[in-house]
Amino acid sequence: MSYDNYLKKYESKTGKSRKMYSKAAGIFPGGISHNIRFFDPYPFFVNSARGKYLHDIDGNRYTDYWMGHWAMILGHSPSAVSSVLAKQVKNGTLYGVANDASVELGAAIQKFFPRAEMMRFSSTGSEATMYAVRLARAKTGRRVIAKAIGGWHGFNTTLMQTVNYPFEAEEGPGLVQDEGQYVESIQFNNLESSLKVLETVKDDLACIIIEPVLGGAGGIPPEKGYLQGLQEFAKRNDIIFILDEIVTGFRISPNGAASEYGLEPDLFTLGKIVGGGLPIGVVCGNKEIMSLADPISKPDKVARCAIGGGTFSANPVTMAAGLATLDYIKKNKASLYPKINRLGDMARKGLSKIFSEAGIPCQVTGTHSLFLTHFVKNNQSVVNALDVATSNKKKLVQYHMALMAEHGIFFLPTKMGAISNAHEESDVKKLLSATQKIVDSGLLKQT
Ligand SMILES: Cc1ncc(COP(=O)(O)O)c(C=O)c1O
Repeated sequence: MSYDNYLKKYESKTGKSRKMYSKAAGIFPGGISHNIRFFDPYPFFVNSARGKYLHDIDGNRYTDYWMGHWAMILGHSPSAVSSVLAKQVKNGTLYGVANDASVELGAAIQKFFPRAEMMRFSSTGSEATMYAVRLARAKTGRRVIAKAIGGWHGFNTTLMQTVNYPFEAEEGPGLVQDEGQYVESIQFNNLESSLKVLETVKDDLACIIIEPVLGGAGGIPPEKGYLQGLQEFAKRNDIIFILDEIVTGFRISPNGAASEYGLEPDLFTLGKIVGGGLPIGVVCGNKEIMSLADPISKPDKVARCAIGGGTFSANPVTMAAGLATLDYIKKNKASLYPKINRLGDMARKGLSKIFSEAGIPCQVTGTHSLFLTHFVKNNQSVVNALDVATSNKKKLVQYHMALMAEHGIFFLPTKMGAISNAHEESDVKKLLSATQKIVDSGLLKQT
C-alpha cells in the first residue's frame, strides 16, 4: 500500500480533527502548543485517555505508545491516582503557600533517591534544568556549561543550544548568538572526543549536564563507561556533574539511571513520572550546593543563588498525583518494572527481526521500557544524535502514520515509544503483527 493510501485512510477517519486543526491553526502558531505535537497532514485531537488508549474527537481509539511524553508510566488516568486527585480537587488546587503534601512528596523522592539531600519543585522540567545549571555556576563561579549534541533539557534559553539538526547552526531567531558562547557541546557516547572538548574549557567549566539515555534525540542508551568517564572528569576537575533524569527517573528503574549505571551526580533533575500526570520539575542533589539557594540563611541576594519561583510550583494537585504514583511504584515495583522492561525487550527484538527478515536496514534503539526504530543505511549503528538525525526520517514518519491510520496504534511520528503498566503482551504482539502487515504492504521498501 502506498503512503498516499495510508494518508487517505487517516484523513477519512479524522474529519472532525481536520476541522479542529484549521481552527487551531488560527489560534496557535502551527496549530499546536508544543512544536513536536504537529504531524502531517494534521494531528488528531484527543478528548479522553484511559489506560493504554487515547480517544479522539472522531471516536477513534489508539493504543498509545507516546504516553504523554513518556510520563504516564501507570497508563492514562490510573485509578490509584485519579481517586486521590478527585479528592484533592475538592480540597483546593492552588494554595499558594507551604503545604504538607509537598513535604511528603519530597520525603518519598528521598527514599527512592537518597542523593536528593535537598530539592526544589518547579512546574516544568525546563525550569528544573535551568535551576540546576544556575546552581552549578553559583557553586563554581564558572560560566561554561557542557551538554550533549542533540541533548534535550527543555526550552530554557541557557540549554536551548545544539538541540536540532544541523547541530552547529543557531537554534533560530530570538536566541541571541551570545547566549551560546558559554555552552560547549560534546558527542554522546564518544568519550575520547568529549574529554578533548571538555579539556579545552575546563578552567571555566561549571558543569556537565547530560541525559543518561538520549530521549528526545532518539532513544540512545549510553555505551559502557561513557557516563562514568564524564563523571570522573567532572570530579577530578571540581566540575558539577548533573544528570538529567527527567525521562529516566522512575522509568528505567525506580531509583533512576544513577542507580542503574552506578553514577553519583552532584545534582540531578526529575520530572514527568514524578508528577503523576501533572506538571512538575524537580532539581535535587547535594545539600551544600542546594543550600546556595536558601533564602533564610542567605537573606542577602548577592550571596544567594536565585532559583525557585513559579506560581504553580509544589501545587497540591501535582503533589497528590505524584505521591499517589510513587506510592503505587513503591508497592508494585517488583512486578511493574520487570513487566514493562520485558515488553520493551519484546518490542525491540520483535521489530528488529521483522525489518531484518524483510531486508529493510534499521536499528531499534532504546532500553528498558523505551524503544524507537531508525531506518539507516547498511545497518549502520545508531549511537548518537547525529546518527539519528541522518537516518531516514521520512520512512519513519510513514511507518508511524501507517500504524496510526490502519492499525490504531499511536507513536508521535519519529519519537520514542514507551510501555506503561497498562500495556500487555498482547499489545506488543499487535504492534508486531501490524508492523509485519505494513512491511508486507511494501510501504517501507518504496522510500
Ligand atoms: C531529558 C529532559 N529534560 C528536560 C525536559 C523538559 O521538561 P518539560 O517539558 O517538563 O519542561 C524534557 C522534556 O521532554 C526532557 O526529556
